[in-house]
Amino acid sequence: MLAVQLLLTLIYIPPLSVSGAPLWPVPTTQSLGTGVLWLPDKLPFTVAVRNATQIYSTQNGTGAITTTSFLDDAIQRTSYYLYNDAFIPWKFHPRNQVFEPDLNGSKTTITGVTLRVNASDTSTFYKSKAGEVDESYTLTIQQNGQITITGLSSVGMLRGLSTLEQLFYAHSSGGVYTPYSPVSISDRPKFAHRGLNMDVARNYFPPSDICRTLDALSWNKFNRLHLHITDAQSWPLEISALPDLAGKGAYAPSLHYTPDDLKMIQEYGAYRGVEVIIETDMPGHTASIWFGYPDLITAFNVQPAWATYSAEPPTGQLKLNNTAVTTFLTALWNDLLPRVSPYTSYFHTGGDEVNANAYLLDPGVKSNDSKVLQPLLQSFLDFNHNALRKAGLTPVVWEEQLLQWNLTLGSDVVVQTWGAVGPDSLAQTVQKGHKALAGDYNYWYLDCGHGAWVDSPPGAPSTAAFPYLDYCSPLKNWRTVYSYNPLAGVPANLSSLVLGGEVHMWAEQIDPSNFDSIAWPRASAAGEVLWSGAKDASGQNRSQIEASPRLAEWRERMVRRGIMAGVVQMPYCTQNGSMCVGPGT
Ligand SMILES: *[C@@H]1O[C@H](CO)[C@@H](O)[C@H](O)[C@H]1NC(C)=O
Ligand SMILES: *[C@@H]1O[C@H](CO)[C@@H](O)[C@H](O)[C@H]1NC(C)=O
Ligand SMILES: *[C@@H]1O[C@H](CO)[C@@H](O)[C@H](O)[C@H]1NC(C)=O
Ligand SMILES: *[C@@H]1O[C@H](CO)[C@@H](O)[C@H](O)[C@H]1NC(C)=O
Ligand SMILES: *[C@@H]1O[C@H](CO)[C@@H](O)[C@H](O)[C@H]1NC(C)=O
Ligand SMILES: *[C@@H]1O[C@H](CO)[C@@H](O)[C@H](O)[C@H]1NC(C)=O
Ligand SMILES: *[C@@H]1O[C@H](CO)[C@@H](O)[C@H](O)[C@H]1NC(C)=O
Ligand SMILES: *[C@@H]1O[C@H](CO)[C@@H](O)[C@H](O)[C@H]1NC(C)=O
Ligand SMILES: *[C@@H]1O[C@H](CO)[C@@H](O)[C@H](O)[C@H]1NC(C)=O
Ligand SMILES: *[C@@H]1O[C@H](CO)[C@@H](O)[C@H](O)[C@H]1NC(C)=O
Repeated sequence: MLAVQLLLTLIYIPPLSVSGAPLWPVPTTQSLGTGVLWLPDKLPFTVAVRNATQIYSTQNGTGAITTTSFLDDAIQRTSYYLYNDAFIPWKFHPRNQVFEPDLNGSKTTITGVTLRVNASDTSTFYKSKAGEVDESYTLTIQQNGQITITGLSSVGMLRGLSTLEQLFYAHSSGGVYTPYSPVSISDRPKFAHRGLNMDVARNYFPPSDICRTLDALSWNKFNRLHLHITDAQSWPLEISALPDLAGKGAYAPSLHYTPDDLKMIQEYGAYRGVEVIIETDMPGHTASIWFGYPDLITAFNVQPAWATYSAEPPTGQLKLNNTAVTTFLTALWNDLLPRVSPYTSYFHTGGDEVNANAYLLDPGVKSNDSKVLQPLLQSFLDFNHNALRKAGLTPVVWEEQLLQWNLTLGSDVVVQTWGAVGPDSLAQTVQKGHKALAGDYNYWYLDCGHGAWVDSPPGAPSTAAFPYLDYCSPLKNWRTVYSYNPLAGVPANLSSLVLGGEVHMWAEQIDPSNFDSIAWPRASAAGEVLWSGAKDASGQNRSQIEASPRLAEWRERMVRRGIMAGVVQMPYCTQNGSMCVGPGT
């Protein structure tokens, strides 16, 4: 800090010839100057909204989400971030050079921020289906200090405010300034569904960790958090009608998501433009139901030959062709769906990695023949999806339901691909005419590369497993994440079926202690692909050389805000553009 202050006696040089401000994700178009504007002691916000008094209550919430309450909340957060998350950006300027504006002389101050929403929000703007809400915005900062954000929805305002927050820095002598005036930005998302899949069943995450993640998602302009909330290992989701589910299937009595927790999490997301989509994966990945309802599960915890019956221990699947299972599902849906539908348009019924052999042990089936299983799985899916539709929810399923079991899916169903049946699973899905989400495990599984989590028994077989890699190693560097183009291999006339995608955080080896550094800033790389697209304005793949100092700077801001994001580069690499470019071959 002292060194920086001494340097102020030198002459201020405007920022290096940046192609734009270090905004993440990069806006569609931007034009920036080199003028300096300072934040006033208190920044006034003016909201000009059509029909701002319209009250949209959630179907049964206490907290009615309205255009007004949504914008008030967003403005409060932006005000806080502007004054409190600004940092001194020494890591992004050549050493021993002045980069801060001169404090002497006249200081032009920001006069205020006007938010102008040109259209009325729909009654479901905070729980929209893909593409229903226009998230575009324009942001201008005039040299006289006036800031204006315009858009066609209050969600667009939120995206514009997130961009605004990234334009300011702290000065080492106090005060907060932007060195980029005048600013003119016009921005819109490439994809309508931009999500993170967070597994909170393999390890438990308190609601506060989920809320912190919702904040980070919102700053990165994600609009979906997919909560993989139940799995074979634990069932933390409290269902009052089926008290033994979490009562016996959670890891410990305190590790539940109560109805109040779930509502709070969904509402927290809704206010941040991040719709929380719940997944109760089935009929596979359900062994945890056995603890409370053993009669519903076939092939529970087969040992040591678990690999014959499941991808992971413990084995166990919901039985098929079983009336008790149907009764259970009816109770589950009647309890859960009316609670989630006020905050989301979607519900995920899972359907990945269904193991045929588990049904050899199911008394109502006694077969692993796909010709026998297929119609039973179809009935299971139809029953669940009809319940969802009655509750006004659109089903999401994993790709295996369509591509491995060839089930007939409604045209409303969104198919989440991950590359299980092959690298072309996304292309296969849209070729069958279905809406799809991208997220191939070779690029967007952020949990990969930490090594095996199953122990090898002593003796010869263990040496075969050496050096104990996991199935999807190596780790996906942010560059790997960034290189993934969700539209690669998708015929151009089918690309509109690709709603977007999700990055994945499976939690076998992740808990609250290491979640942030594994998720961030690599999820930000996916966030930019989903918001800005994998290609730049000239149609070329986006450049790592351009992106890495920008991502490194965005990571500083996330750290300021309490996200323990991993390191992007050494300051040496970022102090003068990208100083760490490889030979390229
Ligand atoms: C205001 O809302 C009402 C009812 O929702 C609608 O009929 C009207 O067109 C809206 N006015 C404007 C200016 O958007
Ligand atoms: C809202 O909750 C009340 C009381 O719990 C209930 O009677 C009513 O049916 C609910 N309304 C909706 C739309 O869910
Ligand atoms: C920064 O990069 C520019 C262009 O590559 C170069 O001319 C300049 O010497 C560099 N400055 C420092 C301090 O490394
Ligand atoms: C700014 O003002 C201080 C105190 O008046 C003076 O010491 C310093 O040299 C000035 N800096 C510049 C860049 O003019
Ligand atoms: C909103 O309307 C203003 C003019 O009233 C216009 O300048 C601006 O571009 C519009 N914004 C959007 C996103 O349509
Ligand atoms: C389903 O169960 C019934 C008896 O409840 C049995 O008759 C029928 O064969 C079973 N179906 C299949 C496909 O196994
Ligand atoms: C089905 O089960 C039989 C044993 O009953 C086994 O030999 C066969 O490999 C199984 N098929 C598959 C696809 O796992
Ligand atoms: C589904 O179709 C694929 C491709 O035609 C085929 O390989 C697979 O065996 C089919 N699965 C079932 C359960 O019929
Ligand atoms: C652009 O990225 C794709 C992967 O999405 C890759 O296959 C292709 O080779 C890259 N093109 C260039 C010119 O680097
Ligand atoms: C997409 O284009 C291919 C030829 O390139 C054509 O065979 C196919 O029918 C088209 N599909 C749609 C949905 O337009």
